Amino acid sequence: ATNQTWSQRFETALHPAIARFNASIGFDIELIEYDLTGSIAHAQMLAHTGIITQEEAQQLVSGLEQIRQEYRNGQFTPGIEAEDVHFAVERRLTEIVGDAGKKLHTARSRNDQVGTDIRLYLRHRIQEIQAQIEQMQTVLLDLAEQNIETLIPGYTHLQRAQPLSLAHHLLAYFEMLQRDKERLGDVYKRVNISPLGSGALAGTTFPIDRHYTAKLLEFDGVYANSLDGVSDRDFAIEFLAAASIIMVHLSRLSEEVILWASEEFSFVKLKDSCATGSSIMPQKKNPDVPELVRGKTGRVCGHLQALLVLMKGLPLAYNKDLQEDKEALFDAVRTVRASLEAMTILFAEGLEFRTPRLAQAVAEDFSNATDVADYLATKGVPFREAYNLVGKVVKTCIATGKLLKDLTLAEWQELHPAFDTDIYQAIAPHQVVAARNSYGGTGFEQVRKALATAREKMQQS
Ligand code: ARG
Repeated sequence: ATNQTWSQRFETALHPAIARFNASIGFDIELIEYDLTGSIAHAQMLAHTGIITQEEAQQLVSGLEQIRQEYRNGQFTPGIEAEDVHFAVERRLTEIVGDAGKKLHTARSRNDQVGTDIRLYLRHRIQEIQAQIEQMQTVLLDLAEQNIETLIPGYTHLQRAQPLSLAHHLLAYFEMLQRDKERLGDVYKRVNISPLGSGALAGTTFPIDRHYTAKLLEFDGVYANSLDGVSDRDFAIEFLAAASIIMVHLSRLSEEVILWASEEFSFVKLKDSCATGSSIMPQKKNPDVPELVRGKTGRVCGHLQALLVLMKGLPLAYNKDLQEDKEALFDAVRTVRASLEAMTILFAEGLEFRTPRLAQAVAEDFSNATDVADYLATKGVPFREAYNLVGKVVKTCIATGKLLKDLTLAEWQELHPAFDTDIYQAIAPHQVVAARNSYGGTGFEQVRKALATAREKMQQS
């Protein structure tokens, strides 16, 4: 007798190192709740279709529920000999309910079983991640609301470009997160299809009812083709793509916080609850949270790549390679969830914008140069001509250590007779921002509207 669950055709046990190499129990135990739920639905379907008796199904269901309790109480800890979570559960079930336990696997394969488990798992995780995204969005909205008229330099090429409402800057991330949430909703539609009843690859000789199990498990539909049902991992790749995009968004925001917290920018102050120190340099306060999020983004993008490469050479249908999908998925889920949590805390209570420094920053640069050109263009000077004139005056200002606001009216009029005293008002930072009142722009009126729309969107979801 061997320690294996496979058929009698095997005479000797696996080499211990091969057993370890083959086993997935070390990580797929994470699927156990979903494996039990899937098995319960399968047992109920077997009775519903008359493949087993109601009594047998009841025994199976109560045995499976007992395993759930044992697992939750920390009493069910299968080892390597179980190979994977599916065998571990079946084995324990047979210990608990005896011979009836051996009927559970009728008309089923681990191939459709594991496909069902991952989908149930992912469905749940998608909903949790969506809820976390909403929490982060709420924090960003609250912060934006308090900072509509706080100005911050806006950049292109990391060079000062035009000043912005800080709320506008934060709302850009609200929008990215909104798409992330919706993207997960799209992925969900393709995750929520049942492969159960595909069998090993070809379907089954038993009169099963796949729609019945799909309904019990609250799937929106069933895979139309059994081969596709057991070997498709598109849904997991899609999830990892959506997860990678979330991480990329968090990483961009992280990069900004890291810059903002530097001495050079000094736009934010990190609070002690979300910053770390140095073991040697007593003055240091480091932005470890955004740095870690930025770093972990590589992990999640790597998992997406891993799964794409995993799939590219696989012939139909199931191949053991597919066992490698799990660690990538689980780690991506954990990483996205931990990163969203940390960033939400960081923005809720871990940083403070240094508003005096921000006000000073936008007042002491040439980010109002476009507004001088716009001023002239409004007075009928063709924009390109105005643009060239302003370029000239910026050059003189730089050479003489002046800012545009320091020029006298005579100097302005020397440049072009169209200038009048209202130029000073037109280039003041607050006005520069207010004036960008085109739809979706940073003008305060637009930002207030955008905030209201964002709040509405949050209420709808
Ligand atoms: N542990 C396996 C996996 O994760 C379960 C399916 C095994 N199926 C098989 N035919 N060997 O993919």
